[in-house]
Order: sequence, then structure tokens, then C-alpha cells
Amino acid sequence: MKNIIFIAPPAAGKGTQSQLLKKHYNLPHISTGDLLREEAMQATDLGHRISRLMNEGKLVSDEIVLELFEKRLSNSDTEVGFILDGFPRSLKQATNLDNLLESLNRKIDYVIVLDLDKEIAKKRIVGRQTCLKCGHVYNHLFDDTKPINEGICDFDGDNLVQRDDDNEDTFEKRYETYIKETKPLIEYYQAKDLVHHIDSTQPKMTIFKQITDIVEGK
Ligand code: AP5
Repeated sequence: MKNIIFIAPPAAGKGTQSQLLKKHYNLPHISTGDLLREEAMQATDLGHRISRLMNEGKLVSDEIVLELFEKRLSNSDTEVGFILDGFPRSLKQATNLDNLLESLNRKIDYVIVLDLDKEIAKKRIVGRQTCLKCGHVYNHLFDDTKPINEGICDFDGDNLVQRDDDNEDTFEKRYETYIKETKPLIEYYQAKDLVHHIDSTQPKMTIFKQITDIVEGK
């Protein structure tokens, strides 16, 4: 079983690497950002509340995120392991996750920290494009992650879109939230001897190789 967590600032490549690992190990990719975006698209009070918080660059409440996460974890495809992208994001979420996994006789195996400078992260945010149909992410400002045809998904030919929270103002708030709420988790997992740092300025396939080497004990 492989249970992998990513901790990283916005745009460090959590989603990009999760997609590659998902394909390589046939593991489910659980992105709380994606689960929340799905919920935010519903024309409900909850949907509007989530959408507002995401566009302000703030964290959505632990209760809502935990409920969505627990529901997703109860799906039988997670029995072989999972890749967590964007969860946990605060110390409270991390202790809740530990308690939940312990009750299921499971544990986290690897915590991958993707290190990225704030200015590069901002550039990645501004150029990011996503396929809403299959979830693949691209960046038209970097050769490494450009789609073959501009604005079109390589995998299913759908049009690529920009996320509502991918603008400079919201980025600043998301980055602040990361430093204040999420970065302290590195120390939390370091104390459990689970942390592996990776320089996220490298090409995406170099990063992917480094992660698979860690997971395969090479
Ligand atoms: P979420 O969707 O998780 O956003 P995020 O953490 O800000 O991360 P991103 O999705 O922006 O970036 P990423 O690291 O996945 O990078 P990507 O691979 O796309 O969360 C959004 C919001 O939801 C939060 O702000 C919060 O409100 C809420 N939320 C989510 N989880 C929550 C939780 N647990 N609790 C409470 N609230 C929660 O790559 C970025 C770009 O760079 C792409 O264009 C990509 O093509 C490019 N790129 C990737 N790798 C490389 C590379 N090596 N070289 C060059 N370009 C690259």
C-alpha cells in the first residue's frame, strides 16, 4: 500500500505530480481543491460559501473538508493506497487525518514537500490552464507543461480554462495562508520522519523520477 501526501505552496506542482503518480501506480488522486470546486459549482448555500472562501484565498472550514474527504476515502478504490493533494492543510486537519487513518488501521507512508520560490509560483498561477473534463493541468508560459495545441487538452481535445482563483490578488492571499496554516505541517511530519524535500523548479519528469525513487526506496 502507498499512501502519499503532498505539502507545497500554490502552483508547486501537487496536481501535476499527482496525475503522473496516479497513472504510474494506479492509485486514486484525492484533491480537496477539486472536491471543493465540484461542490462550489452547485447552486446551494454551501456551494456559494465554498466558492467565496476559495476566491478570497482562505481555507474552507475543517468540518466541510473533512466530511468531503471521509466520503471520498470510504470509496473502495482507496484500499490500495492514495495520493493526497491539498489535504491536510492545517495542524487540526493533520491530527484529524491521523486519527481517522488509525481507526482504519492505516497510515501515511510518504510526505513529499515540493519547494518553490514565491515569484515562480506566481508566474505558474498566471499561466495555468486546466481541462475541466479530465483534470489535466498545463501552463502556456512554460515549454515543459504547454499543451501541444494552444488552449486544447492533449488528452481529450476539450477547451482549457483558467481557474477563478488563478489571479495575482488571490494568489497573494493563498500564499499567505500556506505560510501561516500549512507550512508548519512540515515540522509536524518531520517529527514522524516522513518528509522528503524536492526542488520544484526542476522539469516535471525529473521531479516525478525523484518521487518514484523515494517511493520505491532507490
Ligand atoms: P487547491 O486546488 O489545492 O490549490 P493550491 O494548493 O493553491 O494548489 P494549486 O492547485 O494552485 O497548485 P498545484 O500545486 O496543484 O500545482 P499544479 O500542478 O496545478 O486549493 C484551492 C483552494 O481550495 C484553497 O485556496 C482553499 O480555499 C481550498 N482548499 C483546498 N483544500 C483545502 C483544505 N484541505 N482545507 C481547506 N480549504 C481547502 O501546477 C501549477 C502550474 O504550474 C500548472 O500550470 C502546471 O502546468 C505548472 N507546472 C507544474 N509543474 C511544473 C514544472 N515542474 N515546471 C514548470 N511548470 C510546472
